[in-house]
Amino acid sequence: MTLLRLQTNSPYGHSTSVYAINGSVPGPTVRIKRGEVFRTRVVNQLIDEPLVIHWHGLLSPEEMDGHPRQQVESGQSYDVQFQVNQRGATCWYHSHTDMLTAEQVYKGLAGLFIIDDPEYDDLDLPSGDRDIPLVIVDWRSNAQCQLTYSTSMADRMRGYLGDEALVNGTPEAWLAVDQGRYRFRLLNGSNARIFKLAFSDNRPFHLIGTDGGLLGEPIEVTNAILTPGQRLEILVDFANVPAGESVTLRSLGMPRDAGLPWLSQDLELDLLTLHVEHPATLDPWPIALAPFENWRSEDAVRTRKFTLSSSAGIHYINGKLFEMNRVDFKPPQGDLEIWEYQNMGQVHHPMHMHAANFQVLERIGRGPMTPEDEGWRDTVLVNPGETVRVLVRFEAETGLFLHHCHNLEHEDAGM
Ligand code: C2O
Ligand code: CU
Ligand code: CU
Repeated sequence: MTLLRLQTNSPYGHSTSVYAINGSVPGPTVRIKRGEVFRTRVVNQLIDEPLVIHWHGLLSPEEMDGHPRQQVESGQSYDVQFQVNQRGATCWYHSHTDMLTAEQVYKGLAGLFIIDDPEYDDLDLPSGDRDIPLVIVDWRSNAQCQLTYSTSMADRMRGYLGDEALVNGTPEAWLAVDQGRYRFRLLNGSNARIFKLAFSDNRPFHLIGTDGGLLGEPIEVTNAILTPGQRLEILVDFANVPAGESVTLRSLGMPRDAGLPWLSQDLELDLLTLHVEHPATLDPWPIALAPFENWRSEDAVRTRKFTLSSSAGIHYINGKLFEMNRVDFKPPQGDLEIWEYQNMGQVHHPMHMHAANFQVLERIGRGPMTPEDEGWRDTVLVNPGETVRVLVRFEAETGLFLHHCHNLEHEDAGM
């Protein structure tokens, strides 16, 4: 299905060259029911670049997962087929080509992959045109409006940051809503930008889901962090906004307390303006969502430690860089493990693992866990100077899978 097109305040008149999937940026949204088989053919029509697509958040078998050793040359294609059998969730897909992921994703090779779960059908959640997917990225809005990609030392250190947001591919985006309740499914598809989401009037909203699907119950917040690769689902109520007025979804920027100023992520950005137009009947508000088992650290059978460090635009895990066929860890299938990330540098690392969802256990050094740490995650932010511990169990598939930083510049440089 096509992604919701948003209105824009930006003057037309420029055309931008992109890398498109089926002619669109972001690519078409895949929407599938839990239990169904997903089938597609990936045809690489790029001019002279290899390509492989990864299904981020999907627990797909090894040979379908989109490891860079599976990439195909331009003119070639491959078939994908696997059964989707996991909790309903908002996932996504994107290019995962060796050392070209950042540029290919920046130029448009990504899209949403939504799993609908019959178990969620009876929950009182907004649906239809009140269930709105939003793919948020930042880009460099240069005068020619082109997605040029070449990285400086600063870009290689902190990642390729933009100066303007695109939502569902649209600059200065806006959307007409009524005075009702909405479910927004938010994906941060940026290479490196961390969004700290909030509304312009600081209105409270509710977190209802994270990477791996719905939370046990809604959590009220006034802002929420969304790192590259992560998804958040939120409920927002516009009942108290007078008809004719607007509220803007913004990013507040990350605090500038860590590291050197040229590494900072403190830019504030407007993401999406919501024009509130009509009264609406109020849908019921869900009390409980989709409870799940909280894993306990006492049950973990081992701890693995990962140090994250940087020097001169190169970023390391345990002092090492990626190698296509090296195997670093062999977690036995079904074992509950603690993975401990220690960030020894001055830049943020959103750490991502394939083939499993995890639960955040503890943050040490920069403050306590936050509401965004609830629920099932496949990507977790490790702030400068911080140690983050997560509980993980690889149970879905066996095989060789990736574990990497989702800052795409860091990833392409070997992290
Ligand atoms: Cu979205 Cu290996 O990543
Ligand atoms: Cu992934
Ligand atoms: Cu990183």
